[in-house]
Amino acid sequence: MAFIRAVVVLSLTILALPVMAQVQGDAERGRKLAYTCHGCHGIENYKNAYPNYSVPKLGGQHADYMVAALNEYEGKARWHPTMQGLSTTLALQDKIDIALFMQGEAAESTGSPVGTAPPQAATCVACHGQDGIGILPEYPTLAGQHADYLEQALKDYRKGRRQNAIMNGFAGALTDADIKALAAYYSSQKGLYTPTKR
Ligand code: HEC
Ligand code: HEC
Repeated sequence: MAFIRAVVVLSLTILALPVMAQVQGDAERGRKLAYTCHGCHGIENYKNAYPNYSVPKLGGQHADYMVAALNEYEGKARWHPTMQGLSTTLALQDKIDIALFMQGEAAESTGSPVGTAPPQAATCVACHGQDGIGILPEYPTLAGQHADYLEQALKDYRKGRRQNAIMNGFAGALTDADIKALAAYYSSQKGLYTPTKR
């Protein structure tokens, strides 16, 4: 009996974990620290030069995911030189506070996707949701993200320049045409936005 109760308590704890894992911090402190970030992330349609693609929108993005992303730049699992450099200057609490500020109110599902999802999206919905809103705080929201950034990200996973055990597998199975269709679909959903100097 006690054993069964322990198992039940344990599984409830595991179920509750994603919620408990949500980062805690001070978005107001993050506002000040984010000053250096706005030069790129605070300008609508700002482009990365080489290769040429849009700087990702961070407004409405999950803070937990952004902290993980910053750690991945620092650990070189993601390649971008400026982001690698900046991430090493930030303490974990700085990353958390900036991420909470950038997130603002996390984007939420409208419950009615725009247009029809391409068939290739069937495997993606389990984590990124029907309309591209990540179903857990650690899954990125894709809804409303720049299409060319999404394409860049999927191609980077496919060729291993961006390392993530889950996404390297899924992206490896996609053709260029699949990537174009998926990026077009998710970018046309309602969700992420460019955080201006709030
Ligand atoms: C010189 C322009 C530039 C500046 C300044 C900059 N970023 Fe970035 N950032 C980028 C680009 C370009 C990417 C996409 C790189 C890639 O393909 O991985 C990116 C990616 C990110 C991501 C990952 C987004 C995602 O969807 O995966 C986060 C989080 C982020 N930046 C946070 C910050 C923070 C916090 C700062 C300030 C401390 C900052 N950035 C400053 C250009 C910049
Ligand atoms: C099992 C859960 C899961 C599934 C299924 C999944 N993803 Fe992901 N996806 C993730 C996680 C976790 C990340 C963040 C990985 C990282 O840190 O780089 C991610 C990252 C991404 C990113 C990068 C977002 C950004 O802001 O940089 C894109 C684009 C993406 N996924 C698209 C897809 C597509 C398209 C599919 C379906 C073919 C898919 N994913 C299936 C979990 C999943």
